[in-house]
Amino acid sequence: MKALVLAGGTGVRLRPFSHSMPKQLFPVANKPVLGHVLDNIAAAGITEVGIVVGDWEEDIRAVLGNGSRHGLRIEYIRQDQPLGLAHCVRIARDFLGSSDFVMYLGDNILPDGIRPVAEQFRAERPAAQLVMYKVPDPRAFGVVELHPDGSVAALVEKPQDPRSNLALIGVYFFTSRIHEAVDAIAPSARGELEITDAVQWLLASGADVRASEYEGYWKDTGRIEDLLECNRRLLAGLAGRVAGAVDEESVLVGPVVVEEGARVVRSRIEGPAIIGSGTTVEDCRIGAHSAIGRDCVLRRSGIDHSITLDGATVTDVPNLHGSLIGRSAVVGAEPGNTGHRLIIGDDARVEVAA
Ligand code: DAU
Repeated sequence: MKALVLAGGTGVRLRPFSHSMPKQLFPVANKPVLGHVLDNIAAAGITEVGIVVGDWEEDIRAVLGNGSRHGLRIEYIRQDQPLGLAHCVRIARDFLGSSDFVMYLGDNILPDGIRPVAEQFRAERPAAQLVMYKVPDPRAFGVVELHPDGSVAALVEKPQDPRSNLALIGVYFFTSRIHEAVDAIAPSARGELEITDAVQWLLASGADVRASEYEGYWKDTGRIEDLLECNRRLLAGLAGRVAGAVDEESVLVGPVVVEEGARVVRSRIEGPAIIGSGTTVEDCRIGAHSAIGRDCVLRRSGIDHSITLDGATVTDVPNLHGSLIGRSAVVGAEPGNTGHRLIIGDDARVEVAA
C-alpha cells in the first residue's frame, strides 16, 4: 500500500500564518503537522509516499526532504492550482499505478494513528474505506449518511442541511477502482473535483464502500484554535527529557522537554511543555501546554497554553495565555512606554488584558 498526502491548497483560514508558511508546516508540539502525518503513515507500515504540493513546494521539501528521517521514500507531485481532492488523485496516477493507497489530508492530526483501520483495509480491501467522526456541526465537512444497518447510503460535501452528524475524517483508503471514479466526475458548484463525489460515484456503481467511526482523537487544523487544542492534546503524551542546561535555581514540574542547546535559568516550567533547541528561558514562568520553538529568547515573562515559533523573543510580559507567536516575532514591554505600541503584520490579532 502507498500513501498520497495532500499538502497543496492555499490555507487562507490560517491567517496571518498562511502569509509565511503553509498550514501543513505549522508546528504542533514542536513538530510540523506533516511530520505527525508522516509518523502515522510510517507506523501503519507504509514506506512509499507521494506528497501533492502547490506554491509552498520548496518550503515543504526543505522540511521533509526525501523522507529518510521518517523511514519513508517521498516523491513530490506538483499541483499548480488547488482544483480539488479528487484532482490530486488524478495527477498522482503515475505515482499510484495500480496500488492500493491511503489518501491522507496533510492538515489533519490524529495523535492515535491510523494503524487499526489500515490493517482492516488491508485484510478486506473494499473499493473505499472511509473514516468518520461525530461532530456537533458537520456543515464544514464531508458528511456520511448511513442506512439503518450501518452501511453507507450517501456522501455529501459540506451540506447546508446535514442529514447526519458524521463528518469525514481526511484519511481515505482506496483500491485502484477510485481512478475510474475520479475520471468520471465533474467539478462541483465550488469548482473543485470533490473526493466525496468520486466515492459517491463508486457507491452508485455498486462498489463496496465502507465507513467506520474513528475511536481516537481527530482535528482538521484549519483554524488557530484547533492548532492550540491539538498542541495541548499532543503534549499530554509527552515524556520529559532534559538535554539542555537547567540551572539549580530552576524548577521543572511534570513532563518537560528541554532540547539540546536550550538554557533554562531561574525559571519555573510546568509540564507538559517543550523548550526547543538553542532557546534561552530566563526568569520566566512557563505554564502547562506550552511549546516553545528553536532559538527563542524569553526573559522575565510568563506564558502557558501557547505555541511560540522559532526565533521569537518575549521580554517582560507576565501573563500570556492561549497565544501563537510567529517566527522571529518580538513581544515585549518597553520601560517608559505609557501606552501600547504595536508593529504587527497583516491579518494579525492582538488581545490585550481588559
Ligand atoms: O478535514 C476533513 C475534511 O477535509 C473532509 O471532511 C472533507 O470532506 C474534505 O473535502 C476536506 O475538506 P476541507 O475543506 O478541510 O479541505 P481543504 O481545502 O482544507 O484541503 C484539505 C487538504 O488537502 C489540505 O492539506 C490542502 C490539500 N489540498 C486541497 C485542495 C482543494 C490539495 O493538496 N489540493 C487541493 O486541490
